[in-house]
Amino acid sequence: MKILFVGDIMGSAGRKAFMDIAIPMKQRGEVDVIIVNGENAANGKGINPDMAAKFLDAGADVITLGDHTYDQRQIMNYLNEENRILRPANFAPGTPGKGWVTVQTSAGALTVINLIGRVFLNPSDCPFRTADKILKLAPKNQPIFVDMHAEATSEKMAMGWHLAGRVSAVVGTHTHIQTSDSRILNDHTAYLTDAGMTGSKDSVIGCEREAVLKRFLTGLPARFEPADKNVSLEGFRVDCDRTGKATLAEHVRIQHEG
Ligand SMILES: [Fe+2]
Ligand SMILES: [Fe+2]
Repeated sequence: MKILFVGDIMGSAGRKAFMDIAIPMKQRGEVDVIIVNGENAANGKGINPDMAAKFLDAGADVITLGDHTYDQRQIMNYLNEENRILRPANFAPGTPGKGWVTVQTSAGALTVINLIGRVFLNPSDCPFRTADKILKLAPKNQPIFVDMHAEATSEKMAMGWHLAGRVSAVVGTHTHIQTSDSRILNDHTAYLTDAGMTGSKDSVIGCEREAVLKRFLTGLPARFEPADKNVSLEGFRVDCDRTGKATLAEHVRIQHEG
């Protein structure tokens, strides 16, 4: 199974890059599966049902989210109705949506799990114990892909080792800055501390840099808008066999020529 994971989609520039770069890769048969973190698709703040449906209709297999999950009110019902969009599994029980799913792809069944960290983020249940609980329920001996949405590199690396040998891949999201440490842990689990962001690189983690700089320089409130110049898609390419053992782990960055 050839998987492309796409890092946080930032605003309209990120959405366009995703449609122009990732979807054709699947259409050309370069990848079998696309998983995409969409938590910043709607002007940096969450995702709305129309955007999510457009990604899924075009060929995305599963959408993951993060701390911006509930920024768009209309997404609440959609999270309950659409199977192929996840919010972190360790959010408080009873909140809209679900945190893991098994989907049928053109290359077989795939389980995707979305988790959120607790270091420098709002309180959530324990992502490590949540992952253990899900793995008891999830189908065995087939691919399992984990998006660990977290701020701290240590917490993401710890999750990589916690799940090493038990899942096909653990990828970090949220910082919007790609790391270069892609590797396979314990000869089984593809790992990358952060997949990066799909959006403008002439920005501060996807936002117009003037407003961000103004806030750093003055401390005054400023309205952040997604930037749109010099856009690239960033993510993680993972191959795994039918049993779920990873054979390839590569961070990817592709310039958007649009
Ligand atoms: Fe993000
Ligand atoms: Fe985030």
